[in-house]
Amino acid sequence: MGLRMSILNDKKLDDGPLVFLVNKITTERCIPSFLFCTIQKHLSPKTPFFSFLLASTSPQGHGSSAKMVKICCIGAGYVGGPTMAVIALKCPSIEVAVVDIAVSRIAAWNSDQLPIYEPGLDDVVKSCRGKNLFFSTDVEKHVAEADIIFVSVNTPTKTRGLGAGKAADLTYWESAARMIADVSKSDKIVVEKSTVPVKTAEAIEKILTHNSKGIKYQILSNPEFLAEGTAIDDLFAPDRVLIGGRETPEGQKAIQALKSVYANWVPEERIICTNLWSAELSKLAANAFLAQRISSVNAMSALCEATGADVAEVSHAVGKDSRIGPKFLNASVGFGGSCFQKDILNLVYICECNGLPEVANYWKQVIKVNDYQKSRFVNRIVSSMFNTVSGKKIAILGFAFKKDTGDTRETPAIDVCKGLLGDKARLSIYDPQVTEDQIQRDLSMNKFDWDHPLHLQPMSPSSVKQVSVEWDAYAAAKGAHGLCILTEWDEFKKLDYRRIYESMPKPAFVFDGRNVVNAAELREIGFVVYAIGKPLDSWLKDMPAVA
Ligand code: UDX
Ligand code: UDX
Repeated sequence: MGLRMSILNDKKLDDGPLVFLVNKITTERCIPSFLFCTIQKHLSPKTPFFSFLLASTSPQGHGSSAKMVKICCIGAGYVGGPTMAVIALKCPSIEVAVVDIAVSRIAAWNSDQLPIYEPGLDDVVKSCRGKNLFFSTDVEKHVAEADIIFVSVNTPTKTRGLGAGKAADLTYWESAARMIADVSKSDKIVVEKSTVPVKTAEAIEKILTHNSKGIKYQILSNPEFLAEGTAIDDLFAPDRVLIGGRETPEGQKAIQALKSVYANWVPEERIICTNLWSAELSKLAANAFLAQRISSVNAMSALCEATGADVAEVSHAVGKDSRIGPKFLNASVGFGGSCFQKDILNLVYICECNGLPEVANYWKQVIKVNDYQKSRFVNRIVSSMFNTVSGKKIAILGFAFKKDTGDTRETPAIDVCKGLLGDKARLSIYDPQVTEDQIQRDLSMNKFDWDHPLHLQPMSPSSVKQVSVEWDAYAAAKGAHGLCILTEWDEFKKLDYRRIYESMPKPAFVFDGRNVVNAAELREIGFVVYAIGKPLDSWLKDMPAVA
């Protein structure tokens, strides 16, 4: 009431009470038009959200009602789901609908068992779902109603035709754009959230404007930088939010509208506005730089094994240089995840198409070293175990591409397991978050098939017989000749390795692909231990790293 009085009395207000007021009136979905004018007078230039809101509601005389700003996100996946949940949490005045063609995925988002495992996600979803956060399969309805449409659908690597094995297949993106054009009855801001090749926005813009029926579209690129396992923290406190748009007045207005959404919780200096192509390329560049650091340290790990240096000591020393910094210097069995490889392949293809083969080859090497690291690991296992794993049971601890996620896309575990199966090993796999069905699908799927909506993925013809999936690490290790740690789950640091040792035939091997165990303690127990980039056990010294 006091707030209302101060508005009517033309007192100066700061943004705080205004946020409250706008939240309230938009939640109640009704605002008398005289209040519009008064609020508009109080808007500071720092609050473009309100300008957008007010502009988009255009009162026509007394008693007209304002509509709540609506966001719709097409694609309820690892990116769309958490990102929209956090927007809903931080912007109670915005209605957020997340839509997907996958019925089972939407059902899971509406249940107690969310479709993805992400620390902190349950709480965020529970506090907004049914209030201003909705999950639905009614894609067209929500797209038609939205002011801002995020598109976060799959962009798989092409497996045939022009650019096969490198270029992104934009089929899903294109059909999303055509559907938006079909159902829209009001102007829209369309936001690229999926990782896409540079200049995708231009193609999308063409599809939309050529089918526009007089409706105006603004395309923005707003790449996602969240990392799985820490997605909620990353979204709450991002290093930066990047928004790219056209340099026209309309483009700038759209940028400001999206900026105002993030400004609800992200400090202004962390919101970077650029042109469209810079935003699209920055995403590919950031992932390529991160992946390149891992391939660099992994290349060093091979040299460490050959020379007796310890890669952890080397990366610690290197990372202490403030110009380099300590992050992303952990040697591993290889990087995985849905982004790194795909984004670099995209980058390589774009370089080739632009007549830059040297640049393309430079980035290609990051992937080659990653593949080398995975096959080097398999070769270490096989050569240590008397050059054959045929018929031997090998326990695999961890299948997800990193800890704190159940995601297995491009996980190095797939290549390591396939390598061992190729040498006729029997595998018993344990991961705290990955289901047996997922593991079997991953081991029988062709490369790149994972990046399609679930119901469009090829059915696995049959499960891989030499693979069993266990519910704990001890069951997986029982009777195994060797133990491979492929994900750095915290629980693997605390296992009772003496108990495990006693349940295994001797010599018992541990191959630590994430450097999580204390190798000295395990050797004390009696294990032969191989750890990436660490001084080699005498057992392994004369054995070739790459057969
Ligand atoms: C990330 C990246 O952002 C994206 O570029 C990449 O292609 C896949 O990985 P992410 O959210 O992790 O996105 O992907 P995913 O979990 O597979 O989610 C995509 C969702 O889009 C799926 O649920 C799929 O069913 C949905 N989808 C796909 C649609 O709703 N409509 C389509 O036409 C295609
Ligand atoms: C990455 C980017 O970090 C994120 O900004 C972008 O939005 C999506 O891609 P994500 O793939 O979820 O995120 O995980 P990330 O933490 O980057 O790890 C990727 C892979 O690199 C994992 O397999 C991880 O185990 C591996 N890794 C990471 C290493 O091997 N060593 C390291 O030092 C760091």
